[in-house]
Amino acid sequence: MGEVSGLGPADVVAMLDAPVGAYVHVPFCTRICPFCPYNKVVPRTGQPGRYFAALLGEIRRYLDAGIAGPGGFTSLYVGGGTPTLFPEALAELLADFPVAGERAIEVLPTHGTPERLDTLRAMGFSAVSIGAQSFSDDVLRHLRRPHDAAETRAAVEAAVGRFDLVDVDLIVDVEYDDAHAGAFLRDLRTCLELGADQVSTYPLMRFGYTPFGRARHERRREHEVLAAATDIAASYGYERRSVWTFNRRSSASYTSITRRRFLGFGAGSSSFLGRNFLVNHFGVETYIAAVDRGELPIARRLQLGGAGGLAYDAFWQAYAGAIDLPALQASYGRLADVLRAPLALGAPAGLFAQPSGDGIHALTPRGFDRYHDLERWVTYHLIEPLWAEMLAEHDREGGRAAWATTVSARRGPLWPVVSRVLERPRPGQHR
Ligand SMILES: C[S@@+](CC[C@H](N)C(=O)[O-])C[C@H]1O[C@@H](n2cnc3c(N)ncnc32)[C@H](O)[C@@H]1O
Ligand code: SF4
Repeated sequence: MGEVSGLGPADVVAMLDAPVGAYVHVPFCTRICPFCPYNKVVPRTGQPGRYFAALLGEIRRYLDAGIAGPGGFTSLYVGGGTPTLFPEALAELLADFPVAGERAIEVLPTHGTPERLDTLRAMGFSAVSIGAQSFSDDVLRHLRRPHDAAETRAAVEAAVGRFDLVDVDLIVDVEYDDAHAGAFLRDLRTCLELGADQVSTYPLMRFGYTPFGRARHERRREHEVLAAATDIAASYGYERRSVWTFNRRSSASYTSITRRRFLGFGAGSSSFLGRNFLVNHFGVETYIAAVDRGELPIARRLQLGGAGGLAYDAFWQAYAGAIDLPALQASYGRLADVLRAPLALGAPAGLFAQPSGDGIHALTPRGFDRYHDLERWVTYHLIEPLWAEMLAEHDREGGRAAWATTVSARRGPLWPVVSRVLERPRPGQHR
């Protein structure tokens, strides 16, 4: 096992092989939803102020090293947690943040009032994602969400027309949905009728460390429900743009994870730089302490190399609906040619459309089904054990995040292999 220590901003700048987007994580929620696997805590008194000061410190160190280039970051994505919880602190943080393109933020429906949305607009946000999950009070109670159907609808109505791009998130728990008269497809119609530019339809992921706990997935039913969603979306003039998103045909895409290169700021954020994957400390106090010591708050590093970087890049390109071979060749040179054979076989197997001659290989509906299964496998075998390990920092800090217990996380057969090549701090360091 290697050690991740002593990395400075100049080292990270040297790892980057292309212009980079920024991700900023706000790890606070006032109430914790029992299905949610993300890095968040209920804030302690005084903690948000210290956290935003540390965020500014981390951002400044990277900017001073020239990470963003003269044009600024290619895009900005603010996620959480609940990034709309402390709007004044966020406005101050982002006042001089250099961004050339889109600025996007996740909005909890209770914060989606016209006044709060106008504040986000004034901060320069051009795209919002409303965490609706459902327009059914029964489903929202099942998910134990902190808002009801009326608030959800009001937030979407207020957002549409105020921003260049409005995404609405829905969660579908297929087993619950089948037993409760199919609210999900009605929810999808509601989003389309309200004029969302994009609807993200996430099948509920059951992380072992959340209070919802693990459950078996009805794989076939999930495929069927998403196929039905594709037909409904098409009847409203929307297309399936990625494995779990539907877009109005003329709209841009709202994306968080599919930027080709991104640098994460804040506790629990990660960065992909082409051949390296970095993960920041998850524990809010551990993160603040690292920044206060004058260190970068990086807790894990995976040196992917060219082959691993190519695999990572191609995986998220496929999520977004198409593998762009020329773009991969530009980044990874001849290495990318290993994809030629599987891509050539993928068309007759019905996974990719016939190549159009420009080297772009778009997934077919069957390809989306296979990708859906692969994505879930990756989530449970790699993301869940990594996050469980990182969330243990909160246990040491006594942070209130409401997960069942991190030892109840899954650990698949691949995790021990990845875990061995993951660089961690020296024992005793970063405590
Ligand atoms: C960081 S969260 C939400 C931001 C905001 N705090 C909210 O709840 O509205 C982003 C999205 O992830 C999705 N999500 C959260 N937990 C999930 C799970 N276990 N499975 C699938 N999607 C999930 C939800 O649709 C959510 O809107
Ligand atoms: S889904 Fe719930 S717990 Fe998770 S980030 Fe959103 S509000 Fe917080």
